[in-house]
Amino acid sequence: MLKPEIRSEIELNAKQNIQNKKISPIDQYKEAVHSRPTLLFRQVYNYLIEKLAQGTWKEHEKLPSVRSLSEELHVHRLTVFKAYQLLKDTGRIYVKEKSGYYAFPMTKKEYPLPNHLEYHPPENFLLGSDQYSFSQALVDPTLLPNRYFSEYAKKVFDIYPKVLSTYSSVQGDEELRSVLSVYFANTHQLYLEPDNILITTGAQQGIDLITRAFVRQGDYVLIERPTYHAAITIFEDQGAQLIPIDIHAEGYNLAAVEEQMIRYQPRVFYINPTFHNPTGHTIPASQRKKVVELAEKYQCLVVEDDSFRDIYFGDTAPPPPVASYDTEGWVVYIRSFSKYAAPGLRIAALCTHSPRMNALMNYKYRMDNGAPLLNQKVFLLYLASERLTGHLEKLRTALCLRKEAMEQELYQAGWSWDSPKGGLSLWVKLPAFAGDTQSIMERCRQNNVVFSPGIAHDSLRQMDRYIRLSYSFMNEDQIRKGMKILIEAVREGHQDVTDVP
Ligand SMILES: Cc1ncc(COP(=O)(O)O)c(C=O)c1O
Repeated sequence: MLKPEIRSEIELNAKQNIQNKKISPIDQYKEAVHSRPTLLFRQVYNYLIEKLAQGTWKEHEKLPSVRSLSEELHVHRLTVFKAYQLLKDTGRIYVKEKSGYYAFPMTKKEYPLPNHLEYHPPENFLLGSDQYSFSQALVDPTLLPNRYFSEYAKKVFDIYPKVLSTYSSVQGDEELRSVLSVYFANTHQLYLEPDNILITTGAQQGIDLITRAFVRQGDYVLIERPTYHAAITIFEDQGAQLIPIDIHAEGYNLAAVEEQMIRYQPRVFYINPTFHNPTGHTIPASQRKKVVELAEKYQCLVVEDDSFRDIYFGDTAPPPPVASYDTEGWVVYIRSFSKYAAPGLRIAALCTHSPRMNALMNYKYRMDNGAPLLNQKVFLLYLASERLTGHLEKLRTALCLRKEAMEQELYQAGWSWDSPKGGLSLWVKLPAFAGDTQSIMERCRQNNVVFSPGIAHDSLRQMDRYIRLSYSFMNEDQIRKGMKILIEAVREGHQDVTDVP
């Protein structure tokens, strides 16, 4: 039964629709398409969500036709159509051509969190020498410039004797922001004043600040599919409706991006366009400009997360950031230095203009009143020393060898993946014969191998035929051994299935 309050609200809106006969169905549709989420189709959508959650339609059961539901609820057919469209785009139902709409199992959303996403002490601290972690997109600590950082950590007290007795400003240390503005201009074609930079405690905090400042309950957020798993959680926690945008080796389908911008008027489009986590894809330069044009046209804030820019293989650096094409301030740029300098310092730069900067600083103030000054000063000494360049050259070579070691094992096993030109991970399709991912994870874990399951990276929680394997945390020898165990675990599952009489 329809809840009385929902029914009365729907009926009231329906009456208004009927009274207002001057509005043609097309205009009504346009109005619904261009309207904000509190409108009628949202109420129908929420009503259907509730019914799906109650199990009114079982998994793969057909939902009422558009016509019969519009009659039942006294709303226009286009309103029901739009509610169904949203359910489809958010992965709650699917369409069978010429047949109708069918329910996806709701439980897919509640798929148990893989172990590495539950809270426990960081896994790398627990790893023994015989354990194989493919689950963390982190660089092996032995490849990081630890010696230099420990030198700077000692020096910092001579240069800034009061560093521990002072707060940083909320926006971040001014010297660091000045050096970063020069660094961005020289290396990223990003021309920013120090005042356009906010130092955050890692990129993850940057995503969180943006979400708190600019996304409200019920807002639409476009998000790449697959994507960085923590971003899904951050946006969902804020009550955003996530609309997936597929990412391919060639980039996005920009017509589909535009269609979703028209349909949903999203508040934010979160992108990781350079050596994307988890696929490693890089959006071509030609699409970057177009993404900015779409953002301007539909007034959608693009959040560009650029965490892997410097990890490229071969001689060709990736195209400049999407933010470098932005002239009207529709791109907020997040640049982490966790991945290949010093994860322990938790330094990232969040770049935008006022008034957005003011809003973000407001939230940063409430959150922690500014990043720790000691960390910022240690990082400043490193960045100003130009040692980063030499370090990155060596790091790229080491990571490329690790990637090749992993690819050789996959190749011998006959698995498929797109070989990325940078980044820390491979997005691998499980062979057709592989059993369910949960059992593979279980068998792997018994043999001390961990990886990241595809569903953790998918806002629709459906990509269970893929896994993310990071090659950055272990050396080649460990990679080869761990991959043999993983590949064997998948084969074993196949035998279990085929052995069943
Ligand atoms: C795309 C992406 N963004 C942000 C982060 C988090 O970065 P940070 O350590 O700077 O918070 C990660 C970590 O894996 C990531 O993959």
